[in-house]
Amino acid sequence: MENTTETTNQIKVKWRCPSNIAVVKYWGKKPIQIPCNSSISLTLNNSYTEVKAQLHEKTTLEPVELNYYFEGELNEKFGKRVADYLADNIEHFPFLRIAAVTIHSTNSFPHSAGIASSASAFGAIALAMLDIAYQLAEKELDDNFYNEASRLARLGSGSACRSVYPSFAVWGENDKIEGSSDDYAIEITNIHPIFKNMRDAILIIEDEPKKVSSTIGHSLMNDHPFADQRFDQANERTAKMVKILEEGDIDSFIQICESDALTLHAMMMTSSDYYLLVKPGTITAIEKIMQWRLEHMVPVCFTLDAGPNVHVLYPDKYRETVEDFINTELKDTYKKVIFDHEGEGPQKLNID
Ligand code: PMV
Repeated sequence: MENTTETTNQIKVKWRCPSNIAVVKYWGKKPIQIPCNSSISLTLNNSYTEVKAQLHEKTTLEPVELNYYFEGELNEKFGKRVADYLADNIEHFPFLRIAAVTIHSTNSFPHSAGIASSASAFGAIALAMLDIAYQLAEKELDDNFYNEASRLARLGSGSACRSVYPSFAVWGENDKIEGSSDDYAIEITNIHPIFKNMRDAILIIEDEPKKVSSTIGHSLMNDHPFADQRFDQANERTAKMVKILEEGDIDSFIQICESDALTLHAMMMTSSDYYLLVKPGTITAIEKIMQWRLEHMVPVCFTLDAGPNVHVLYPDKYRETVEDFINTELKDTYKKVIFDHEGEGPQKLNID
């Protein structure tokens, strides 16, 4: 029989995990990666990270020996963040005490595209590493696996915990949402047909790296004058959003989604170290979307991440007319557009 080290060294896995866009935002956190409010997001389809993880023999005495490649090149900066994450959570990845790991990661979308790349990256890393742990323990990939992966993804990057589920996911304890937790996200089922295959066109207004990181942004909520009101508001909105998705109330969806995006940016603009991430093109695009909605009575709305790019959300049923609007009337506001839509969650892939 082979010895344990040899068996361990033969393991390799590949996972694809999509990004997600929040419609009620998480902004502000407590140690360790506990959100100050609940949030709800749409899991995307075309914007994803693929991670191939392979174990091999250790060559150093490092507690975690990781070679991290991004788009084919050794990436020491992000690699260090991932190695620290793996070391901090070594009890979930005990095989790393006896084996080294090489991770190859690729994104389906360009850098700084305003797509939460740490969400898809940590989602994929958590899924791949947990899959290895499950294989070594001879455990099935059941629902519990995704729940554990969500918890582990959260420890890497908060919003990543919502990416391990299809469709809509809630993260953060909310007394009006059964099963909700600060530790992991839960999938929201029972979605009205109007919200099925929801579209998200991502308008890349600027593709330069953000001048203020999300980590700093979250920390500015610690002594923010409006923090308590914001956390209460987000909790209320998350609970309302779950009902809205169930009932198919698209007008309320639009109202909460847009207001929450503006509230996120209002928090940035009113923090002690205030800053602005929106650009003139962001404002122009937002105004055109609101005006066009009024004129055409088509349910289309915007949301924003922590950056200048605009996510245009619309039901699948209005795809043709909205995409025509995006390709013509909105064209001058963006450098590039990525058409995405609701996704089915992560996928385990065959190793090539
Ligand atoms: O997961 P983080 O730390 O990158 O924070 C993400 C925060 C927002 O994208 C702005 C909102 C959210 O809920 O995804």
